Amino acid sequence: MSTNETAKWMSMMINVVFVISVLQSCVRGEPKVPCFFIFGDSLADNGNNNRLRTPARANYEPYGIDFPQGPTGRFTNGRTTVDFIAEFLGFEDPIPCYANTKGFKNMVRGLNYASASAGVRDETGSHMGENVNLNKQLLNHKSTVKRITSIMGLKRLSRQHLQKCLYSVGLGSNDYLMNYFQPKFYPTSKRYTPEQYASVLIKQYSKQMKTLYKYGARKVVLNGVGQVGCTPSSISITNGSTCAENMNNAVQFFNQKLKSLVDHLNTKLTDAKFIYVDMFGISGSPSEVTAAGIKVTKANCCPVDEFGQCVRSKGTCQNRSEYAFWDLFHPTEASNLIIARKSYNSSNSSDTYPANIRHLVQLRL
Ligand SMILES: *[C@@H]1O[C@H](CO)[C@@H](O)[C@H](O)[C@H]1NC(C)=O
Ligand SMILES: *[C@@H]1O[C@H](CO)[C@@H](O)[C@H](O)[C@H]1NC(C)=O
Ligand SMILES: *[C@@H]1O[C@H](CO)[C@@H](O)[C@H](O)[C@H]1NC(C)=O
Ligand SMILES: *[C@@H]1O[C@H](CO)[C@@H](O)[C@H](O)[C@H]1NC(C)=O
Repeated sequence: MSTNETAKWMSMMINVVFVISVLQSCVRGEPKVPCFFIFGDSLADNGNNNRLRTPARANYEPYGIDFPQGPTGRFTNGRTTVDFIAEFLGFEDPIPCYANTKGFKNMVRGLNYASASAGVRDETGSHMGENVNLNKQLLNHKSTVKRITSIMGLKRLSRQHLQKCLYSVGLGSNDYLMNYFQPKFYPTSKRYTPEQYASVLIKQYSKQMKTLYKYGARKVVLNGVGQVGCTPSSISITNGSTCAENMNNAVQFFNQKLKSLVDHLNTKLTDAKFIYVDMFGISGSPSEVTAAGIKVTKANCCPVDEFGQCVRSKGTCQNRSEYAFWDLFHPTEASNLIIARKSYNSSNSSDTYPANIRHLVQLRL
């Protein structure tokens, strides 16, 4: 056989192996999408920061105390919102962390690129140390797409595969918490009013989403920014009881413009569908919180260090399921479940616009 024929034969065999693995997954019960890719910050990070030079890491106890594998790098006691969404979609295991990925089977089913302290802007969070900002997450995805194409042998096959995937993107919180509201480290609040800053962010986000589209994404969830003024950290800066309204007001400019971006992208890229998830409204819904048995909404569950993260092995509050917040910034698993359920299933278009995740994945594009 010539080298060329050998290469063809090898690629055919790899395809056979791939088909067999897909058939095996059918037997187990096929997920509602063949793959799920995740871009984000600490709300979705599942270990991408573990080997970076930064204190923004959560690979130690008590993080992961309620997670089957223990501490993994998730910034919560148990599962994150995207872990729950992967479960609702029918995935047997959580979407693997990009930094730990070996082997192609994981990759074709999706990867999680999220990195704590990262933002839409490159410099966001840099005063903490290293992170993988959204531009770098997109470059990592570009290399994944290349590898998937070589695994599948034909560009057409990998394109067909990638357009059936779900993509979740959630950044922006740190562009406020670790940029705009840190005037000691970043000049943005001197340069822009909150409304101007939101426009600048959305302009860049829009470009980044068009890049994601170019890499084959057709079903994309764009997560808004939650009530950053109501975290235990922000509340401690006000008088210990009320939310920091200046922070909430600033991110609401971002959220309004993000919702408009979803309309713009859906009009412009007609073979794709983007949805907006109102994290701000969803995370603040008091009736849901009470119904879930959450009683403490203004205090953190674990004792924290100077970065607002849990202190290593210092224990936790007595009843983790009754707390909305795990450390000074991040929700508990109990809160993440509420957020995930609503993003997946809400029938209120102010929660998910213009469709929820369940409807998005059912769409035939
Ligand atoms: C302090 O909190 C109370 C509510 O408990 C609120 O009415 C008041 O405006 C707050 N004061 C300041 C200075 O933020
Ligand atoms: C912990 O909270 C849950 C939910 O509110 C409740 O059912 C349970 O009794 C609590 N356990 C303790 C030991 O307080
Ligand atoms: C979504 O809603 C449907 C119908 O109301 C329900 O059967 C299903 O269990 C819900 N799924 C989740 C993940 O909440
Ligand atoms: C939808 O959500 C909004 C915002 O949370 C709320 O004001 C409205 O009452 C909800 N609508 C319905 C029909 O539940």
